[in-house]
Amino acid sequence: MKAPKIKPSSSAVEPSQIKTSPKIDEAYSSEPWWYDARGFLILTLAYNDTLPHQIRHFAKNMRTQHLEVAVGSGTFLEVVLKYRRWKKWPVINIIGFDYAPSMLQGATHRFRKNKNIQLQLADAANMPFKDNQFDSLSCANAIHSFPELEKSLRECFRVLKPGGIFVGNCLITPRGIWPLNWIAKKINSWGQRKGILHRAYDLTEIKDLLMKAGFKNLEEDLRGNCLSFVVTKNIKTT
Ligand SMILES: C[S@@+](CC[C@H](N)C(=O)[O-])C[C@H]1O[C@@H](n2cnc3c(N)ncnc32)[C@H](O)[C@@H]1O
Repeated sequence: MKAPKIKPSSSAVEPSQIKTSPKIDEAYSSEPWWYDARGFLILTLAYNDTLPHQIRHFAKNMRTQHLEVAVGSGTFLEVVLKYRRWKKWPVINIIGFDYAPSMLQGATHRFRKNKNIQLQLADAANMPFKDNQFDSLSCANAIHSFPELEKSLRECFRVLKPGGIFVGNCLITPRGIWPLNWIAKKINSWGQRKGILHRAYDLTEIKDLLMKAGFKNLEEDLRGNCLSFVVTKNIKTT
């Protein structure tokens, strides 16, 4: 089934308008294979979650006009879309963005033949999209990397249509038993030094931040140190 086309924002930002820093440029300047291997290790040892669980969580919650926030090099999105194809779920239109030029370059190359995927450089805290534009929005493995999380969550709320869903996951302060919690803490400290992790969040803190941004109907799935969630931008009844 073919989804109707959407256009990316006409106000796509120029690289010079994004407030990155040498630290960000360096944090995301690794070779793609190392980025993928690193991601897999972090998912297993810091999140204590599994790839199949993450793929299912994101794949089943995508709708016709979809925004992929912080798409990175697109490795994860590509697997998610393969899973959707395997399940024979409808083709959707996707706009994806990231604020690290090197990551976005990887995604642009990866999806160069996919006409239904448009990519651009943008900051989650200042999205170049109209209000009420998207049916669904995913943010995979990135919320805890945002320097300005509250502002970014408000932007997620703004660009979703009423009734639209926000699907995400967030790294939680390491829990559980030694040595698993010790390993997770060590990886988090390394991630913070490297600039790929802003910080992990306490469970109640991240849920409160989602509600404060205006979201409702929290569906949550806590595994290891990772909260996977779906929230809705409710239609006002008054
Ligand atoms: C761990 S990667 C996750 C990428 C991808 N979603 C995945 O699951 O493979 C985190 C990404 O968040 C991006 N990022 C961090 N802060 C951002 C912001 N404020 N706006 C846009 N992208 C951001 C980084 O550039 C990086 O590509």
